Amino acid sequence: MSLLIKKGRVVDPASSTDEILDILIEDGKIKRIDKDISLKSAQVIDASGKVVSPGLIDVHTHLRDPGREDEETIESGTRAAAKGGFTTICCMPNTEPPVDEPAVVEFIYKRAQERGVVEVLPIATITKARRGEALSEMGRLKRAGAIAFSDDGNWVANAHLMRRALEYAKMLNLPIISHCEDKTLSQDGVMNEGYFSTVLGLKGMPKEAEEIAVYRDLALARMTGSRLHIAHISTANSVRLIKEAKQRGIKVTAEVCPHHLVLTDREVTTFNTNTKVNPPLREEEDVIALREGLRDGTIDIIATDHAPHSLEEKELDYVLAPFGIIGLETALGLLVKELVEKGVLSLMQLIAKLTINPARMLGIDRGKILEGAKANLAIFDLEKKWKVKKEELLSKSTNSPFIGWTLPAPVECTIVGGEIVYRRR
Ligand code: DOR
Repeated sequence: MSLLIKKGRVVDPASSTDEILDILIEDGKIKRIDKDISLKSAQVIDASGKVVSPGLIDVHTHLRDPGREDEETIESGTRAAAKGGFTTICCMPNTEPPVDEPAVVEFIYKRAQERGVVEVLPIATITKARRGEALSEMGRLKRAGAIAFSDDGNWVANAHLMRRALEYAKMLNLPIISHCEDKTLSQDGVMNEGYFSTVLGLKGMPKEAEEIAVYRDLALARMTGSRLHIAHISTANSVRLIKEAKQRGIKVTAEVCPHHLVLTDREVTTFNTNTKVNPPLREEEDVIALREGLRDGTIDIIATDHAPHSLEEKELDYVLAPFGIIGLETALGLLVKELVEKGVLSLMQLIAKLTINPARMLGIDRGKILEGAKANLAIFDLEKKWKVKKEELLSKSTNSPFIGWTLPAPVECTIVGGEIVYRRR
């Protein structure tokens, strides 16, 4: 069956296209892109007044499968992704068991094939069990299909081990994704260290815990010439360090999460545990610098860090509740509202940070609207608004600080390999 998307505003950063066009899809691929295509036998999607973009790519998703299927499964997580316009998601390896053996990588691919509705690409651990003591068998993990390495949630504190990891990753031509946090400094902090942590009497995590780690990893990336991707940066100084590193030719890319672009540590005064996230929500000056880093190209990618947690655990008090918030379903709306509508980024720039830039970082052939390319697309409506309602979330967990918010740009339709995997009712 052919699928014909009519009269959408096609926004494709890879080809700098922003034009009203028709797209014909056949056999899972984009067959033709043209001004006026007609094909009687095709199923037609009327996209007039809507944006058609490459399917979004999230380089930082926690799926909790295997191990915590009460919080999220590959099935529920990929359905949430599809609702958010994502067609490819990379899942972090802090599962139970962790993704440090080829068998776990294979399990994720198999489950995603059987039950997933979008593409799932597993990230394997850098070190065994993310303990930072011995390297994972990176070559075997790559052969099984791992697309990057990360100890997400933990920093590889041993510099020698990280050096070796970067060297192996370079041989394998895969990126290392670093969770930059020196835990000897952040210790058991639960929020940003600053005015509000003092007022609330909560233990703070200083920004320097992130920045020290960013600096060391940039130094090791320079030393090894390897591809380093820095996850979820949250401070103004991290942006500055990465900007300087790029100017010096270091092969580094960086991501920021929607919540760090929208909220500050003032939100913690509500004691809502859905504001507890690692890295923590920072201050106004950091939000401004992160937005500027996106604008000037220092920050290449926006990633959700979708981190589902059970209600029971998030209902504990602030100190005991786990870090993390879900993000797949709200990312696009938040970003359009806060970045595009406020003139920080053009729509084209925003879409680049959610499509072609993540594809380039990962080295995958995705994130563009091109004849012959796999038909992974998102259609959304800039004219409509929607309200984030707990009961309408498709994720198995509801730990979002954005419940009740009204956002623009609801996703109308998500297409993966020519199949409609989500359609708004
Ligand atoms: O807030 C977070 N949650 N940050 C992390 O680094 C890990 C994640 C999780 O797995 O819950």
